[in-house]
Amino acid sequence: MQQETLLTFKTQFEEEVYTGLTAFPKHLSSKYFYDAIGDKLFQDIMQMPEYYLTDAEFEIFETHKQEITDFFSEGEAPFNLIELGAGDGKKTKVLLRQLSEKTKNFTYRPIDISQHVLDGLSVSLQEELPKVSVVPQQGTYFEALERINSENEGRKVILFLGSNIGNLLHKQAIVFLSQVQALMQEGDLFFVGLDLKKNPQTILDAYNDPTGITAAFNKNVLTRINKELGGTFELDDFLHWEVYDPETGTAKSYLVSKKEQTVTINKLDLAIDFKPWETIHTEISQKYDDATVNWLADQSGLQVIKHYTDANKLYANYVFEKKQ
Ligand code: AVI
Repeated sequence: MQQETLLTFKTQFEEEVYTGLTAFPKHLSSKYFYDAIGDKLFQDIMQMPEYYLTDAEFEIFETHKQEITDFFSEGEAPFNLIELGAGDGKKTKVLLRQLSEKTKNFTYRPIDISQHVLDGLSVSLQEELPKVSVVPQQGTYFEALERINSENEGRKVILFLGSNIGNLLHKQAIVFLSQVQALMQEGDLFFVGLDLKKNPQTILDAYNDPTGITAAFNKNVLTRINKELGGTFELDDFLHWEVYDPETGTAKSYLVSKKEQTVTINKLDLAIDFKPWETIHTEISQKYDDATVNWLADQSGLQVIKHYTDANKLYANYVFEKKQ
């Protein structure tokens, strides 16, 4: 009789690490890049000259802030400006400043899983834009969105910036967009930042910087396994590798084992064998074109009503509403 092992996991991290590293080909989710160290590395990435996404979105906000905020406020009625994944709010502050100069009638509700992030943002907003009413919402996006919906009247303008949607496969993105759509009412807006298809070299440079910050960011998932699950990954034995397919618009990050090796993960009671040059797929960063964005919207019960791009057409912010 075949012996069955019943595996129990204490956390989703444990379960996903087990599943991903015992699969073929191996994979780990990029959501595990982010802890205090990963957050700091991502901040550093956003400062890199090669990582054009942040500057391009900032440029769009600076150039079109008048029109964008007119769109958001649409008359005098009070509205909720909700941000999914708040971060340091650097770009959002451009819009908040503009909005606060012309209307008092909105409440900024940044949603983040990290109370630490929300506290930092609240303090900086209190200092820089004291007139803006800020009500932080700690929790997952959908928990918090549902809470906002049940507790508040008024239109919603939902922000999802930084091409965060690009870290989802199209299928997952449709699930995500559909979940947001289900919580929207007529008149609500969904404002999404999306990175565009462009010269493939520009994309490869953005995800393969010479200083190695992106490599450290990618390898942070291994550092976390070592620290949190008792893993024995030697970071120098893995290579950060980026590929970009200009046909599909998908950039993919890998960690590649430089040699034959076995890594153990104490808490999972697991030994993982790597062949030389075997891969762990860790992240996708999808790049879009107009047709793909319209298709994603259509599949999710949304429609595009407007979009803005930077002067070099590297990046775009799309405005969606519920499909009529
Ligand atoms: C957060 N996310 C949109 C970033 C991206 O561009 O995919 C994460 C990142 N990965 C490598 N560099 C930046």
